Amino acid sequence: MSETSGAGNAGPDTADSAETTKTTSGATIHLDNLTKRYPGNPSPAVDNVTMDIKAGETVVFVGPSGCGKSTTLKMINRLIEPTSGRIRINDEDVTDIDPVKLRRKIGYAIQSSGLFPHMTVAENIALVPRMAGWSKSKVKDRVEEMLDLVGLDPREFHGRYPRALSGGQQQRVGVARALAADPPVLLMDEPFGAVDPITRDHLQDELIRLQHELHKTIVFVTHDFDEAIKLGDRIAVLRERSHIAQFDTPEAILTNPTDDFVSGFVGAGAALKRLNLTRVRDVEMVQFPTVTVDDPLQSIFNKLRGGPHNELLMLDRRNRPYKWLRRGDLMRARGSLARAGQLVHDTVTRDATLHDALEAVLTDSGGRAAVTGRRGEFIGVVDMHTLMNSVQELLEADRLAAIEHQHDLEEMRAHQTEQELEGGAGA
Ligand SMILES: Nc1ncnc2c1ncn2[C@@H]1O[C@H](COP(=O)(O)OP(=O)(O)O)[C@@H](O)[C@H]1O
Ligand SMILES: [Mg+2]
Repeated sequence: MSETSGAGNAGPDTADSAETTKTTSGATIHLDNLTKRYPGNPSPAVDNVTMDIKAGETVVFVGPSGCGKSTTLKMINRLIEPTSGRIRINDEDVTDIDPVKLRRKIGYAIQSSGLFPHMTVAENIALVPRMAGWSKSKVKDRVEEMLDLVGLDPREFHGRYPRALSGGQQQRVGVARALAADPPVLLMDEPFGAVDPITRDHLQDELIRLQHELHKTIVFVTHDFDEAIKLGDRIAVLRERSHIAQFDTPEAILTNPTDDFVSGFVGAGAALKRLNLTRVRDVEMVQFPTVTVDDPLQSIFNKLRGGPHNELLMLDRRNRPYKWLRRGDLMRARGSLARAGQLVHDTVTRDATLHDALEAVLTDSGGRAAVTGRRGEFIGVVDMHTLMNSVQELLEADRLAAIEHQHDLEEMRAHQTEQELEGGAGA
């Protein structure tokens, strides 16, 4: 990204638009009566699935193990041939075209990354662009760009073999490989299923950030409803044989599950799960005084003494949160701040969920968390008070939505009864 973001510090959004002009964004996907019967099994693994996916949206398939999520996904890139039905991508019927050609337009990332162990990171990423006949130099540039995109330093990771990477790094390379040929569609089958919860959280945040830049059409499979809520623009809750129990936005599914199967999946604590639906960037952050490491001691003093806060945040030379400084720290500083204050060790990104932020605040001794932007730069602070306000607003909105829904139902029933009565009177 270093070459394209020469615009300086104009803010992440400006950098975005410059980058997205270079990439292909998403395509629509239509699944039309898609069915798969595996040989020797009389009942289909996927039974007549029809679904429209919009260009640039992230759709998550969520459902119990064995319900046919992977089979449905793999029919989209024809790793599994459908028994019947059609697949259209950007309104082109791709059900019968050469599957190898099709797969160049569709990135695919799976659990445990699926990297080839005998190839270096760079070779793995270069695979599809090479097959597509890109020139050597273009492939080389692309590999660097992709490593950068997924947050791995090209110089460090380029020549490594997959076994020399952590699980999370392997998953990142897997995503880089899937995106290397700039496909409009990205299929992901439980890609973060094999990593620890903290790494998974980070990878999810990264994916959200990537998607903000790239606007691909992503179909993501998981059995984890929290993951579905976090990542999906829309969620398809699937029951056995990939029958769609509900296909809607996370908000709609949480506040208005169609039946017991879906409620069962949403599970208890739906209100708390709402925390996963809101991002830090959507809440009002605390105005927090900052100073930088280069500020003279006297002006730092003055800032603390003059303002209503008894604490301020010191930023490093790249504007990243560095230390929390309290009045007492300054009193004891005796001319140098080198050892004063408390180092910031946990920050949340603006794309993190309130759930993540809450965790950071609850485990922070000062009860606050610094929020950072794409390049780690300081944006604001969240604390218990901000989060509580947001949660209360969410709950209130949920309550109103539920009342409205109840009201609609009652109206519908009244209407029905009316019609029945009229019908009765006419007969
Ligand atoms: N290659 C296969 N041959 C026969 N049956 C399969 C094959 N792959 C999956 N199945 C069966 O199809 C059903 C759906 O599997 P799958 O799509 O993997 O579900 P999920 O990804 O939701 O766990 C399961 O009953 C599974 O046993
Ligand atoms: Mg599966």
